[in-house]
Amino acid sequence: MTSPKPGRPLALVTGGSSGIGLELARQFAVHGFDLVIGGSSDRVEDAAAALRQAGATVVPVRSDLATYDGVEAVWKAVQDTGRPLAAAALNAGIGIGGAFIDTALEDELRMIAINATSQVHLAKRIVPGMVAARSGRILVTSSLSATTPTPYETVYGPTRAFVYSFAESLREELLGTGARRGRASVGPRWWRIGRQCLGDRHHRRPV
Ligand SMILES: NC(=O)c1ccc[n+]([C@@H]2O[C@H](COP(=O)([O-])OP(=O)(O)OC[C@H]3O[C@@H](n4cnc5c(N)ncnc54)[C@H](OP(=O)(O)O)[C@@H]3O)[C@@H](O)[C@H]2O)c1
Repeated sequence: MTSPKPGRPLALVTGGSSGIGLELARQFAVHGFDLVIGGSSDRVEDAAAALRQAGATVVPVRSDLATYDGVEAVWKAVQDTGRPLAAAALNAGIGIGGAFIDTALEDELRMIAINATSQVHLAKRIVPGMVAARSGRILVTSSLSATTPTPYETVYGPTRAFVYSFAESLREELLGTGARRGRASVGPRWWRIGRQCLGDRHHRRPV
């Protein structure tokens, strides 16, 4: 990592290479944060290069959040900066659409690992430091799918409901500690995950 500019806080954005996460990372960058961003493909390097144009020091981490080691790699990248984490956007997620009777179990177990397990795992690493520092912010990307039955996204919706409940519960626990978390319940957008859930022939209007 190149030397941080004095006074710039550090933010982590998982899924920072695309879609909502890339925009969150861009907002952090233009508002004076340096960044660690995660992604599963080499797109994360391109995103880091783009974000550096906004003046941020950016560490890209390519790892698979479906695995324990992949989550630990993200956390190690944060720790390797030697800097306290001021904010974390736990945003990475994938979608799987289709009739439950047709979808593959292994794909859905992998989605649960990315969308739910990795968020708990990372929060477990992040929260103690924020509580000790009495400072920090965690943003969890959920979905309107958390609040309604999601037929043909029958496992995706519950992964969003899990993080919705997790974020709300964590928020209550952290009240008064100086560490805070927020929940972003995003509506359907015409980004990659919309296509993953719905298929290319079924368009949802961006909201
Ligand atoms: N788009 C919507 O309509 C919508 C609506 C409600 C909620 N959301 C939620 O918003 C979040 C982001 O969605 P999006 O639409 O921005 O999705 P997206 O454009 O597909 O971006 C997903 C991000 O997650 C990363 N990622 C995927 N699998 C990963 C893995 N195994 N390990 C590490 N990183 C992985 C991707 O990395 P690569 O780019 O390297 O693959 C990418 O950076 C998700 O949690 C989703 O549930 C989205």
